Amino acid sequence: MSVMSQLPEYEKGIYNHIMIKEIHQQEKTISLELADYIKDGLADLSSLGIDDILLSAEKIYLIGCGTAYHAGLVGRTLIEKLAGIPVESDIASEFGYRHIPWRKNQLMVVISQSGETSDTLMALREAKKHGVPVLAITNAQDCTMNREADRFMVIKPGPELAIASTKAYTSQLVVMYLLALYLADKKGTYDKAELKEIGHELMGIDAAIEKVFAQEEKIMNIAWRYRHIEDTFYLGRGLDAAVAMEGALKLKETSYIHSEAYATGELKHGPIAVITPGMPAVALVTQEKTADKSIANLQEIRKNGGHIIAVCSEKLVSLCGEFEEIITIPNVNSDITPLLSVLPLQLFAYYMAVFRGNDVDKPRGLTKSVQVE
Ligand code: AGP
Repeated sequence: MSVMSQLPEYEKGIYNHIMIKEIHQQEKTISLELADYIKDGLADLSSLGIDDILLSAEKIYLIGCGTAYHAGLVGRTLIEKLAGIPVESDIASEFGYRHIPWRKNQLMVVISQSGETSDTLMALREAKKHGVPVLAITNAQDCTMNREADRFMVIKPGPELAIASTKAYTSQLVVMYLLALYLADKKGTYDKAELKEIGHELMGIDAAIEKVFAQEEKIMNIAWRYRHIEDTFYLGRGLDAAVAMEGALKLKETSYIHSEAYATGELKHGPIAVITPGMPAVALVTQEKTADKSIANLQEIRKNGGHIIAVCSEKLVSLCGEFEEIITIPNVNSDITPLLSVLPLQLFAYYMAVFRGNDVDKPRGLTKSVQVE
């Protein structure tokens, strides 16, 4: 029985599936998450009572599984760049088997929509065993992680019912921005005016989100054209690489298509060999600094007959002009593009699943909360 058919009529609203409803809820949930913590352009997390463990951290471990891990990858780049603190992001199911040289003044941040994922709990317990404080970022007030962590912060998108996470991911991303901006401000590691600029842009992100959703029909048409594929790559550099990983996971989960995420620059070190004529690669091109290099790599795919579905910033469209499909995201500070570039990837995964006749909200063999190690 599908999630949708188990819901009362009023929950379905105008949508055919919960996943598409939750994708569109991001038009509100992203801003909601930001509004409580950004004041006059600066992030302020003081009300959470986490200053003691956060501001003393000389190294941070960002730990999660699946989508939550991908949010941590974005967090790593942001915190290292803005706050100058070394960050490791790792998959919870691997973390417990490492031999971490634990030190004083370290912090573990566990990210989990459900707050119940066994692998993440195992990592949390490992840190606590070594006296390392843990901050849990969850989407549930009453969950095991909140009870076992030293502190917790609950994100605000509301319950997420579709198995493929969408709105929880972007709320987790928002928390990554808040942590990075707050740490940078408190530690004085980044120019305050630039921090405020990022803060103000985040507060005005609604208009940009709307522009992305305005391309929904175009994305649906692209999905229709490529609905029969069995393999694809998701590519990006820097922050785009982290978002590519989330895009590839979304497509796998909902459409059962084999999709692999690679850093664009890594393509030439082997994976390009599997490109066959007509095979599409979804390429994110939102970072000005690396765009030229990425385009050169993507042209290699086209030389082998592959197609490029580009998700690129408006200002980089001229570089992507030859590609088969182009979805644009509005020009924003290059650090905040992940909040926008993931939206077309979620829509693409949704429509691919619909066109393949899959149970979108309840993909085969998956559960919302994985409670086995
Ligand atoms: C996301 O679409 C997946 N269903 C899955 O990867 C999920 O993010 C992962 O299992 C972690 O779950 P959690 O956030 O509840 O810990």
